[in-house]
Amino acid sequence: MIEIKDLTKTYTVGGQVSKVVDHVSFKLAKGEIVSIIGHSGSGKTTLLSLIGGLTKPDSGSVIIGGKDIWAMDDAGLSGFRNRMLSFIFQFSSLIPTLTAFENVVLPAAFGDYKEEITGYAKELLDTVGLGDKMNSFPSQLSGGQQRRIAIARAFINRPEIILADEPTGDLDEETEAEIMALFKNMNREREVTFLLVTHSSELAGQAGRQLRMSSGLVSAA
Ligand SMILES: Nc1ncnc2c1ncn2[C@@H]1O[C@H](COP(=O)(O)OP(=O)(O)OP(=O)(O)O)[C@@H](O)[C@H]1O
Ligand SMILES: [Mg+2]
Repeated sequence: MIEIKDLTKTYTVGGQVSKVVDHVSFKLAKGEIVSIIGHSGSGKTTLLSLIGGLTKPDSGSVIIGGKDIWAMDDAGLSGFRNRMLSFIFQFSSLIPTLTAFENVVLPAAFGDYKEEITGYAKELLDTVGLGDKMNSFPSQLSGGQQRRIAIARAFINRPEIILADEPTGDLDEETEAEIMALFKNMNREREVTFLLVTHSSELAGQAGRQLRMSSGLVSAA
């Protein structure tokens, strides 16, 4: 499903060169749940953004469903991203001027808009326990509630792959367990593939396979 081959990304700041992702290779089979743990600054967010087509690697390839995503042109890549995968970002990514409901529906507005999307958005909001906050704006929600809206939003386009960066970072244990149950359900029913970056050993432990990232290198945990 996803094949990462020899990916490398270097950043240069103030003349100092750091290899943030250092010749990383691994594969994810369709329907796998894989977690990545690692210290702050080890390159996890950068790696996810290379895999998800948001940041261009210096070298290497990301092959998803047989296609090298970094060989596509911009239009091809954004269409592919919109169809195939969703991000749950580490930091708040909601549009402040849209309500919770509008934030969840927004990604679907770029595809073929269908009436059933409205129903599905409500269903997803219910699933994350926020059916009663549909009309609230992000500034009227707690950090954990905003996080759950972003999680609901990730599923609206029925993606095949979810790339999640600390998806339960600001949630209590009980809510974390509910989110994990949602992920597992989507995995079982729709064969959604998950790559989860997390500091939570609870969450990591529930993945089918665990990877560790350290100074740009990825190994089995
Ligand atoms: N756009 C950028 N420009 C320059 N350096 C960057 C950039 N993005 C990340 N870095 C550097 O790359 C390294 C890895 O950052 P990254 O965000 O991938 O780490 P992380 O493993 O996700 O950390 P955390 O657990 O704190 O979220 C850090 O040293 C960071 O300073
Ligand atoms: Mg990060």
